[in-house]
Amino acid sequence: MKETVVSGIRSTGRLHLGNYYGALSNFVKMQHEYNCFFFIADLHSLTTHPTPEHLNRTVREVVVEYLAAGIDPEQSTIYVQSDVPEVAELYLYMNMNAYLGELERATAFKDKVRANPDNVNAGLLTYPVLMACDILIHHGTKVPVGKDQEQHLEMTRTFGNRFNRLYNVDYFKEAFAFSYSDKLVKIPGLDGNGKMGKSNGEASCIYLSDAPEVIRKKVMRAVSDAGPTEMNQTKPEPIQNLFDLMKVVSTQDTLQHFEDLYNKCAIRYGDFKKQLAEDMVLATEPVRSRIQAISNDDAYLKKVIHMGAEKARESACRTIKEVREIIGIKKLY
Ligand code: TYM
Repeated sequence: MKETVVSGIRSTGRLHLGNYYGALSNFVKMQHEYNCFFFIADLHSLTTHPTPEHLNRTVREVVVEYLAAGIDPEQSTIYVQSDVPEVAELYLYMNMNAYLGELERATAFKDKVRANPDNVNAGLLTYPVLMACDILIHHGTKVPVGKDQEQHLEMTRTFGNRFNRLYNVDYFKEAFAFSYSDKLVKIPGLDGNGKMGKSNGEASCIYLSDAPEVIRKKVMRAVSDAGPTEMNQTKPEPIQNLFDLMKVVSTQDTLQHFEDLYNKCAIRYGDFKKQLAEDMVLATEPVRSRIQAISNDDAYLKKVIHMGAEKARESACRTIKEVREIIGIKKLY
């Protein structure tokens, strides 16, 4: 039996290099080895109150980008989270065993509270419970995600194990974050600090669908400094971030070339950024070139989404039936 993989990306907009290298590129590789469920987390994106139009548009964009990246809907199950209402039912049950203290301690929650103090809603607090349910509903054991999601996976194991203990069953399996590289990935942004992500501003992100001119412009404007002043000096964060980005999109030789120039204080950031931008253009080209064609094919998208919903529901219905039995929820007559 193949191990089950489950992962998703929120439908907050077009996907960026962080989503790609943290998650999507692993989805594409994993589909050949595992039984995969990849979904678009539209329920999770409700915490930020998108308009209905924005929500619809972004769900579609993420489906298109999954397919453009190379996920084969015949091999893996691609579905929209809200097409599987059993996830929401499991979320209700699991919320009964998730405690305020542990939810409030989650790093992602604390970050969101700090960033948006006026929108600390219950959905945000219980976000990790819904995420756990996405995984538990299919008995997933491997979850391809970026570094920022590691704690949520730990919480998923806590909730699953707690359920098992409470009902004295050995039902939910433990799920672990997965990446093909030796560590979970954190792709930095272009703004000089933190990870690539929309919450750090549009300019920090390179999107898979960005045109080459847009990529070049964004990279040339990336935060840097006046240049190294001592041989072999430690790189300040904005510069280290650009080197980290080069590590994922460029060849080892290119990276080494610029490392050497930096260490000799002979680097010219203009050349460095130009090379980085060209390598980003090249790395995103295969996905970018497929986005338009797939996006124009409504009949294909409809088929993929219907097929995915059916396959995902089959698996989810089985779980929810068993969970109801374990909990003792059944029709009296
Ligand atoms: P989301 O939508 O914020 O991000 C989707 C995936 O992209 C990864 N990612 C990054 N990885 C490396 N560097 C970055 N700068 C970067 N930015 C984003 C994230 O780690 C993630 O893997 N909670 C999830 C969505 C989700 C989910 C799930 C994932 C909902 N249910 C169940 C796995 C399993 C999230 O917010 O991802």
